[in-house]
Amino acid sequence: MIASVKVASPQTYGRGLEGLVAGDTRIGAIDGALGRLFYRGYSIDDLVRYCSFEEVAYLVLFGELADDRLVREWKGELRRWREPPPAAFAALALLPATAHPLAQYRTVLTVAACHIPEAENTALDAQWRRPARILSWTASLAAAAIRHLQGLDPVAARDDLGFSANFLWQTLGREAKPQEVRAFDASLVVQAEHGLHAACFAALSVISTGADLGSAVLAGMGALSGARHGGANQLSFEMMERLDDPEAAREWARGALARGHRFPGFGHRVYKCPDPRVTALAPHARTLLEAAGLKDRWLVYESLRHEVEVTLGPKGIYANVDSITGLVYHPLGLPPSAFPIPFCLAIQAGWMAHCLEYLPDGPVIEPGAVYVGDPVGFGFDSI
Ligand code: COA
Repeated sequence: MIASVKVASPQTYGRGLEGLVAGDTRIGAIDGALGRLFYRGYSIDDLVRYCSFEEVAYLVLFGELADDRLVREWKGELRRWREPPPAAFAALALLPATAHPLAQYRTVLTVAACHIPEAENTALDAQWRRPARILSWTASLAAAAIRHLQGLDPVAARDDLGFSANFLWQTLGREAKPQEVRAFDASLVVQAEHGLHAACFAALSVISTGADLGSAVLAGMGALSGARHGGANQLSFEMMERLDDPEAAREWARGALARGHRFPGFGHRVYKCPDPRVTALAPHARTLLEAAGLKDRWLVYESLRHEVEVTLGPKGIYANVDSITGLVYHPLGLPPSAFPIPFCLAIQAGWMAHCLEYLPDGPVIEPGAVYVGDPVGFGFDSI
């Protein structure tokens, strides 16, 4: 006889957990009505203007802006972990270059994680030792995965460069110009934290079971890869790449709107107004495109965005961050399939911060479900 089946009470029922609150946090605050985003109380507009990604990652993780001494120590700690275990590169060489770079990078991170002596240690102090290693290892491995796509060998890290400049060096095999580094760094800053989005919730579910931080980050990576999440920046750019000029963009958008097309890079579960990350990145994307002789890409973007927002804006659908990051990454020379990678590199700072915030006393995450199947079998009516 079935003794009992756990059912969710109707008050907490919500497919996709829309509108449900799963906890409190001191890390990030999103204002979906006015289009504002804050990390630890600081607006992303200020952070993008005054801070590097390293400083923002420190803020997100540790809760305060580091002073000069702490910044030096944190940057030193990040530099210390720029060389992942060689086994990870050996594993990368075995993967088909045609595999999606996000899948390659996730796979080799798993290999690297197996080489951490204390991988199984889930004591709180051991978990807190991991963020710098995860951030730096993943940057080197991601760069290698992007090069692998193009049949190129990994490039060794450089000690004299900051996080973004070194990532671009390891990815492109050339020293990026200062405005390229600034634009790329700005893209990391605005994507470093975004509350309990699907990927962060996946990471949180894993850490809540008593698993290690690396496993939680790997879960986040899997969740982020989907087309409705971090995979949207690749699709959004590919959509715009097919449009030759602003007029073609306008015409195509009108037809697509009439057909009820779902535009990648538009709409958001939380923002029902312009996404503040788009506003913060727009000047960087535009400058890079113009400097690369690709001004038409910017005009196509503006034209498409105008058409979509005029029609769908009243429904709360505006360009989201995934519509614009590709316009920073493309002029740098990254292939579109690599666009989700910087998003992942940046936002894992937020995932780790949420996991570490949750760890001391957070319960196992285990929501109920309302059973709607057939009542078959003896004893079912006892529920
Ligand atoms: N293009 C066109 N219409 C869209 C749309 C888009 N990108 N996003 C949502 N809509 C419409 C839906 O068709 C639906 O219309 P309806 O009510 O007339 O049926 C309505 O808006 C609500 O859609 P829904 O999927 O329920 O909204 P959501 O809040 O759950 O979805 C996203 C949020 C992000 C999944 C959704 O906007 C989307 O798929 N965007 C494209 C992918 C993307 O850019 N993802 C990255 C987000 S950062």
